[in-house]
Amino acid sequence: MYEHLQQTDNEVYELVKKETERQQHGLVMIPSENAASVSVLETMGTALSNKYAEGYPGKRYYTGNEYIDQIENLAIYRAKKLFNAEHANVQPNAGSGANLAIYFALLKPGDTVMGLNLAHGGHLTHGNPVNFSGMTYRFQSYGVNKETERIDLDEVRAIALREKPKMIVTGATAYPRQFDFSAFRKISDEVGAYLLADVSHFVGLCLAGVHPAPFPHADVVMTTTHKTLRGPRSAIILSKTTDRLASTPADPATKVKNLAQKIDSAVFPGTQGGPMEHIIAAKAVCFAEAMKPEFKTYQENIVKNAHALAETLQAEGIRLVSGGTDNHLMLIDCTPLQITGKQGANALADLGIYTNFNTIPYDTRKPFDPSGIRLGTPTLTTRGMGAGEMQTIGHTIAKVLKNMTNETVREGVRKVVRELTARFPLYSELL
Ligand SMILES: Cc1ncc(COP(=O)(O)O)c(C=O)c1O
Repeated sequence: MYEHLQQTDNEVYELVKKETERQQHGLVMIPSENAASVSVLETMGTALSNKYAEGYPGKRYYTGNEYIDQIENLAIYRAKKLFNAEHANVQPNAGSGANLAIYFALLKPGDTVMGLNLAHGGHLTHGNPVNFSGMTYRFQSYGVNKETERIDLDEVRAIALREKPKMIVTGATAYPRQFDFSAFRKISDEVGAYLLADVSHFVGLCLAGVHPAPFPHADVVMTTTHKTLRGPRSAIILSKTTDRLASTPADPATKVKNLAQKIDSAVFPGTQGGPMEHIIAAKAVCFAEAMKPEFKTYQENIVKNAHALAETLQAEGIRLVSGGTDNHLMLIDCTPLQITGKQGANALADLGIYTNFNTIPYDTRKPFDPSGIRLGTPTLTTRGMGAGEMQTIGHTIAKVLKNMTNETVREGVRKVVRELTARFPLYSELL
């Protein structure tokens, strides 16, 4: 692969090669990353990238879209089937833009919204003050309980009753436990709020039934497609058709829209221009992959591996936020190890183990040098690793974090990484 690039632009080719090799020879444990199939990668590099297709299938502002329409319709059909959704918009370019479109569709600037605090695992677009979401809407965040480090639904309900939000956002980027969508829906109903489930991180687990499913509880579901879904770097929005909170029912004559139409208009022309049809095609490919029985087994193995890794780390005396994990990720509290999360994550990365530094709930340190390390199992599970390998990796990580500068330890760790990555190859067909 990549012969043309190699011949015409060796400088870029060399960097692509080096990055591919880094992924091959390293243990990628950043829980928001994965290794998409070669079919997904191939589809992203097709001539579909050349085509402008503003609008939606059958209603484009450009000619020449007869095949593009079929591709987008196929992606929509597969997304609806996979998620059991009434409506799917497959055009969002990324998760942040998709959340922007959802807010734009259903809220007015200044409306009150609830989302999980970033410091407790929420995403920037769930109301952080430095993000458009926190600047445009009146976000009242909920957090995790200081003792249990889990979301306290009584507290969520109390905030909702007090603040009367127009929308409650669920989902997270660094929360190792499950979301009870049914309980959130009850709270949303009590206060007349939309329920948005941002399942970006654990979407694959939902599809496999190892995490509660967001439908039928949520009005709108947003997911990125490149994390546990293992597709191209992108996002989609799924929704109900009926807007259960609209004061006026949908009516084409008066141009009053239903929920699905509101979402579509908010994506295009509201917040995006021409859709990336090469990425939409790659999303269609990953949806078909996710319908296969192997995908369910893969997701079950992600969770089994996360349990094995968490148990090993805890047996090594390492403190995990909330005492473990129910999903694909966990958070190490580095405070008792007398290092910062950044020092720990950098030491691991130097040896080819990629995690990310992350705040932990009630962190006293700043986000750019926080107390935690976030790590997970999606990519290692894609490579075929199982519980035995997770135990080896757990002991290895503990060794690094406890002996940050010991060169003998570091040499031993490099050997473990070399041996594991050779035994579980990745992308051997690419280079
Ligand atoms: C829960 C959640 N929502 C939204 C996003 C944003 O996605 P993107 O990086 O594609 O903008 C992320 C990305 O990490 C996420 O974890």
